[in-house]
Amino acid sequence: MQAAKEIIVIGGGVIGLATAIELRLLGAEVTILCQDFQAAAGHAAAGMLAPQAEQISIGSMLDLCLASRELYPSWVQKIESISGVDAGYWQCGILAPHYTQPEQNAQWLAAPTIHRQQSGLSESIVGGYWYPADGQVNNRALLRSLFSASQSLGVNFLDGVAVKTIHHSQERITHLETSEGNMSAQHYILATGAWSQQLLPIEVVPRKGQMLSLSVPPEQWDHLPLQQVLFGEEIYIVPRQDGKIVIGATSENVGFTPQNTSQGVQQLLNAATRLFPLLQDLPIHETWWGFRPATPDELPILGTSAYENLTLATGHYRNGILLAPITAKLIADVVWHQQVDDLLAAMSWERFG
Ligand code: GLY
Repeated sequence: MQAAKEIIVIGGGVIGLATAIELRLLGAEVTILCQDFQAAAGHAAAGMLAPQAEQISIGSMLDLCLASRELYPSWVQKIESISGVDAGYWQCGILAPHYTQPEQNAQWLAAPTIHRQQSGLSESIVGGYWYPADGQVNNRALLRSLFSASQSLGVNFLDGVAVKTIHHSQERITHLETSEGNMSAQHYILATGAWSQQLLPIEVVPRKGQMLSLSVPPEQWDHLPLQQVLFGEEIYIVPRQDGKIVIGATSENVGFTPQNTSQGVQQLLNAATRLFPLLQDLPIHETWWGFRPATPDELPILGTSAYENLTLATGHYRNGILLAPITAKLIADVVWHQQVDDLLAAMSWERFG
């Protein structure tokens, strides 16, 4: 079968952009329809690349996440070389301090070791895990880099265009009804994250996360208090190389209710300053929120759909930034080469019946 050359990607977040770029590099003509670029979950994330710190226990998901973490350095380099925009990739390692002693494994650091590795931790920390291969990317810089790369490559990015209805005739999508009129292509990719259910009956719901950042004063940048991510029992703390410290996140089932709440911000600040008391003197830089695309089993929905010319790339829940490179590669393989990697077997929409 010949590959579809004209492709519409619905959704302009990290997954939509990464996939569009991959397909464009293969020779496709790609249009991205994006309802609101600024609302994409990728802007709200912390950018952790943390398959181990997140303790992903389902084998198929862990395989997918580890494969994506492996791709990260070369993938970021590729995007940066096309865009000329640094994405802030930093394999800084992730330290996971614990207040109570869990079952230990090879990565366990006893109390004296963890306090030596990271000074300033709460005295109540009894030990923790060290994951040197985990790390971070500056997710907002990554989105800027992806956007610029897409523009350099000639991807047609239409921001502010809402898809209202996906029309089909039997098993084929015929066209999209959008806020700017009808649009059609040979193939469609759904990458609409938390908003996916507005277009298809698909098992993805929003899970709100509130976040905030602190800023380290410029005179202290040579000696940033943190040089690794802290993934605590109740909070994560992500130091950026530009002196910002990102703190997250709440996890709330409140639909698309916007805004930070005093309770949410208080919860983040209490947990962060408990884990790393030095933070209490730093000024608050920003507060924000976003909506994770959550599925019932917390695995993404990737690959073929009920329609022969629609491919699914949604439901990445807590791991959209991490999974962008592998999603882009696997979805491009499906769409362009009609190759379905074994990694996709457990990610099928059909698992929900
Ligand atoms: N990946 C971290 C979060 O979703 O909060």
